[in-house]
Amino acid sequence: MATRQFESRDFTQLDIERLSPGEVIIHEEEIKERVHELAVDLADEYRGKNLLLVGLMKGANFIIKDLMVELFKLGVDDVQFDTMSVSSYGDGTTSSGKVKIEQDITEMHPEGRHMLVVDDIADTLHTFVGVAEHMQPKGLASFRTLAFLEKPSRHKADFPIDYVGFKIPNVWVEGYGMDTKQLRRGNPNIVKGPTVPM
Ligand code: IMP
Ligand code: MG
Repeated sequence: MATRQFESRDFTQLDIERLSPGEVIIHEEEIKERVHELAVDLADEYRGKNLLLVGLMKGANFIIKDLMVELFKLGVDDVQFDTMSVSSYGDGTTSSGKVKIEQDITEMHPEGRHMLVVDDIADTLHTFVGVAEHMQPKGLASFRTLAFLEKPSRHKADFPIDYVGFKIPNVWVEGYGMDTKQLRRGNPNIVKGPTVPM
């Protein structure tokens, strides 16, 4: 693999203009390594606790499945899995700033649970802010967030994400669960998507 000029998890300085749509930004193998590292950190925090992992659909499907498997291999098996659907984008690519809970978690009694909300990518942060507000009255033992990717230059809110896989510049990406108009989520690599107005 070619050597990069920047710190491995911080891709914010990557010259995305030089990449064509479909070109790899983060390779499958780098994704696997980082998922493992994140799981090791999570195991430290959640071992012996009743973790309620909540994946934001549909994009977080890939990362949440891989995290669960890694946690299990690390002996962390007191883990319940739930999903939630939130929309702030619709099918377009600009955030309205308003978050709608389309489908809530199925767990009827989340009180006293340690919740980790997982998303594929944090962009404006409206989604995490909306989900955090929604969970606030539920009496959780703890609430944390994990974004596999983060675009720091796009944030529109002040919200600290607890766990981040990779930081990337302002570029539309696809693969590893992420889509463009519902397509190409199955790419095992994270690639540059088509150039669209942001
Ligand atoms: P936020 O509320 O603006 O942080 O939006 C986060 C959501 O926007 C993610 O869960 C994705 O569904 C979507 N999103 C943001 N950037 C991208 C991208 O580059 N590719 C695919 N989906 C994205
Ligand atoms: Mg999403």
